Amino acid sequence: MRQLRPSTIREILKVTAQPDIISFAGGLPAPELFPVDAVKAAANSVLSQNGPDALQYGPSEGFMPLREWIAEEVRQRGIAAQPAEVLVTNGSQQVLDLVGKLLLNAGDVVLTENPTYLAAIQAFQTFEAHFVPVPTDECGLIPEALPELIRQHRPKFLYTIPNFQNPTGVTLTEERRAKLARIAAEHDLIVVEDDPYGKLRYRGSNVPPVKHWDEANCVIYASTFSKTIAPGLRLGWVVAPTEVISRLLILKQASDLHTSSFDQRVAYAFLTLNDQAAHLDRIRHAYGERFDVMHAALSAEMPAGFTWTQPEGGMFLWVTGPENLDGMELLSRAIQRKVAFVPGRDFFPGDGGKNHLRLNFSNSTPERIREGVQRLGTLCRG
Ligand SMILES: Cc1ncc(COP(=O)(O)O)c(C=O)c1O
Repeated sequence: MRQLRPSTIREILKVTAQPDIISFAGGLPAPELFPVDAVKAAANSVLSQNGPDALQYGPSEGFMPLREWIAEEVRQRGIAAQPAEVLVTNGSQQVLDLVGKLLLNAGDVVLTENPTYLAAIQAFQTFEAHFVPVPTDECGLIPEALPELIRQHRPKFLYTIPNFQNPTGVTLTEERRAKLARIAAEHDLIVVEDDPYGKLRYRGSNVPPVKHWDEANCVIYASTFSKTIAPGLRLGWVVAPTEVISRLLILKQASDLHTSSFDQRVAYAFLTLNDQAAHLDRIRHAYGERFDVMHAALSAEMPAGFTWTQPEGGMFLWVTGPENLDGMELLSRAIQRKVAFVPGRDFFPGDGGKNHLRLNFSNSTPERIREGVQRLGTLCRG
């Protein structure tokens, strides 16, 4: 416990909850796109048709019709999965915790992108993991760097977010995904592929998950309904070989018995009673527009020396400032001006990150994005 720190983002979110602050800090979806009425109808139908079952304890593996739905969904993403290879979890965050419990002993090495998802660092730090960054560029991690890192560090696994990475927005190219799967197979490397954002592509064309090329069964694939239905449901899943699922299941039983029977049934009813393609199109359209607005505003407002990524999906972009920029210091001034973001430093398990900012564009309206970037630009120019 002595080594663990509270999440900077959660601390920042406490400040940014004030309504007069324009916050690009949290990783929150757009609340006005939550399908409230459709979820209400789904909940009504669950309670009127299967009320007692929905309120009873349920199987630790998850509600079978939902596991079948997920197996079909991931098949469409390019992963040949059976329902027995699917475990429903409390968000994909629980997958990270369970994988850490399963695989990590104190001092074990985890390979990650640098920067990477802050709460994955937190999850694996709980098990006293040691992080080794994999070199990355604008096309994601560089698979050719892996054999030497594997030889040197004998990692327990590689953790990667191939689609619209959190925090950078970068997407791993198809060629690199295939190469990563091949190198993992050759070196017996377990890959934990975290894919919360893949369905949020507003530009370009879909790339299959790394697990699509996983003939050696090295890849543990995690995803979630948090960004496509609502994060408050806390519904995610993991796809892995049955030998892995059976072990994760024991760990899940010890930690929470099972994921909410009610929420799983409501999600399943929502998914089967509504037109999912139309629902996702609405989200993608709104996020694409918000990205465009943020990109245009940054182009107009930011001084020379600032650059940013242009993701084709997801919820974040990543700003790089001049070498001497201190993101933490900028944040304290930004909060006085009623605008917030997450400074880059905390996303780096290794060194670096002081001169970066993560900006979320999904959770603010276009008007607030324009206003917030204008405030930020004034600060950066000053
Ligand atoms: C990369 C990544 N993984 C996992 C999660 C956890 O999502 P959830 O537990 O809501 O499925 C998030 C949430 O923002 C994320 O960005």
